[in-house]
Parts: sequence; structure tokens; C-alpha cells
Amino acid sequence: MRRSLSDTLAFCRILLIVNAMGCIQSIRCKPRSFRESIIVLEVNSSIDSNPTTIDESSNVVLRYRTPHFRASARVLVPPVAGKETWTVGWIQACNHMEFYNNYGNRGMSSWELPDLREHHIQAISDSDGVNYPWYGNTTETCTVVGPTKKDTKFTVSMNDNFYPSVTWGVPVSDSNLPHLTSIRRDQSFTTWLVALNQATNETMVLQTVRWRMQLHIDIDPERPLGQRARLAEPTAQEQPQILPRNEIIPANAMVKPNANDAQVLMWRPKVGEPVVVIPPKY
Ligand SMILES: *[C@@H]1O[C@H](CO)[C@@H](O)[C@H](O)[C@H]1NC(C)=O
Ligand SMILES: *[C@@H]1O[C@H](CO)[C@@H](O)[C@H](O)[C@H]1NC(C)=O
Ligand SMILES: *[C@@H]1O[C@H](CO)[C@@H](O)[C@H](O)[C@H]1NC(C)=O
Repeated sequence: MRRSLSDTLAFCRILLIVNAMGCIQSIRCKPRSFRESIIVLEVNSSIDSNPTTIDESSNVVLRYRTPHFRASARVLVPPVAGKETWTVGWIQACNHMEFYNNYGNRGMSSWELPDLREHHIQAISDSDGVNYPWYGNTTETCTVVGPTKKDTKFTVSMNDNFYPSVTWGVPVSDSNLPHLTSIRRDQSFTTWLVALNQATNETMVLQTVRWRMQLHIDIDPERPLGQRARLAEPTAQEQPQILPRNEIIPANAMVKPNANDAQVLMWRPKVGEPVVVIPPKY
């Protein structure tokens, strides 16, 4: 919603008394009026309605592809006085991850984020790993380099989905013999639309979106390749929520490592000690 000009003027009028130059040039007035007038004109967020697709074409791995989460926003940045540079874009963090691949009575493999799992942190960055803290640097961000004389309007958008491979065979064995019996996944994310001043790192949260992806695939490893897997639930994902009040960004959502580099593949046998199959990358 566009903040009324009179709000800004009411604040400036106080300064006018002490500043005959007028508040637009006033150093004290500028940061506050600018901050308050970056406007989100429109924001959309959804998860596509198509179900997860399953690909059994490989005799080594099962692949699946979940529907896309999407977020986009039209933003107005008012004239930027001086040489300030503002970047507006999407930042995402993972808050919760359960990602279990069951191999009958042998055990399960699980992708884990140890610091999140043990509640040492409440979120982990989901940046692309290059453009921290941003989720990406193509459609995901827009940078306004001051000074600008007019309003700058643009759209920033992002999308996310899962497209993993899961071995048919037990990951700690050399055999490709199919033992995979089910896949269960439940992940939650927070996605923020943020304006960041490049010089000062001043950060403004403009919008906060929460979303979740849940998945359950049942597998009969006895059946021939191509006929093993069945999408059990859910038939439709919960839709994302655009929160009525913004949430602050936890420190770990802004910095290295990201979820991709921090995740560990564990083998958790029914009997015996867990084994690290793939250690973290960082
Ligand atoms: C939001 O969705 C509406 C309806 O599909 C579309 O017309 C509009 O362009 C979208 N806005 C943004 C910022 O993506
Ligand atoms: C995105 O980041 C990469 C890697 O830092 C860089 O090479 C590229 O120029 C950037 N693209 C844009 C559009 O900023
Ligand atoms: C802004 O953040 C970057 C990255 O964390 C850091 O390198 C830089 O020193 C910070 N600048 C200021 C002015 O705090």
C-alpha cells in the first residue's frame, strides 16, 4: 500500500521550521522519508498446481521433480538523492528439513542440515552460493544506482523446486539392487523481499513469505523398473503465505554456508551406528 505523502510531509514540516532550505535537501529528513517510501506495488506467490513427476528411466537412481514455488513483486523506488546504491531482491532460508529415503528393514538415508537439526540455528541461507545474501542475481534482484531523478519501477521474481536423484540401492553398498521402499520429504522456507543499501548494509524487509513442500512416494522395489513408484501424497501442496507482519532475517540466512554446502547425506541403518555418506562441502 502506498504510504500517503502527508505522512512524510508531516515529518518534514518539523524540519522546515529549523531548515529554511526545505526538507527535501535535508540530510536528517532524507533517510527517513526514503526508507518509508520504497513501495511494494504488488506481490504474488504460489506453488504450481501440477503434481510431482517421477522418472524411473535410470536403473541406478529414481528422480523426481516437484512443482515450482514462485514469488514475484513489483516495487517502486523513489528518487535516490546522492550516490547511494540500493539493491532490492529475494533472500531465502530453509527453516526445517526432513528428507528421508527408506530402504525397508535395512534402514534409511537422510539429507540433513546438522546445525538446523540440532537447533543451533533457526534458519540456513538458501543463496545460490555466489551472490550472498541473494537467492540469485538474474531476475531475483534489481539495483538502483543513485542519484536518480524519477521513481524506478521494476519486478523481481524467483522460483524454486526440488529435482533430486535417489539411489535404488542402499547408498553404503556397491550394489544397485533395488531396495528403496519410500521417500518422505517435508521442508519449510522463509523468503524475504529485501532492500539493501550497498554502502551501509542497511536492510529493510519489505515482504515476508512462508512456504512448505511435502512429499511422499511409495515404492515397490520388487516390481520392474518403470512400475515401482507411486506418488502417495499430498496431491496438492499448501499454498505459500504472505505474512501480514514482516519477520526479521536471522543472521545465518544472510551468510555462508548455504543449505547446499552444509547438507550431509547420512546412512541410518536399522541396526548399528549412522554413517556419513556425503560430508558437507564447506
Ligand atoms: C500477479 O499476478 C497477476 C495475476 O496473474 C498478474 O497480472 C500480475 O502481473 C502479477 N504481478 C507480479 C508482480 O508478478
Ligand atoms: C551474477 O553473478 C555472477 C557471479 O558473481 C556474475 O558473473 C554475473 O555478472 C552476475 N550477473 C548479474 C546480472 O549481475
Ligand atoms: C557489508 O556487508 C559485507 C558483507 O557481509 C561486508 O563485507 C562489509 O564490510 C559490510 N559493510 C559495512 C559498511 O558494514
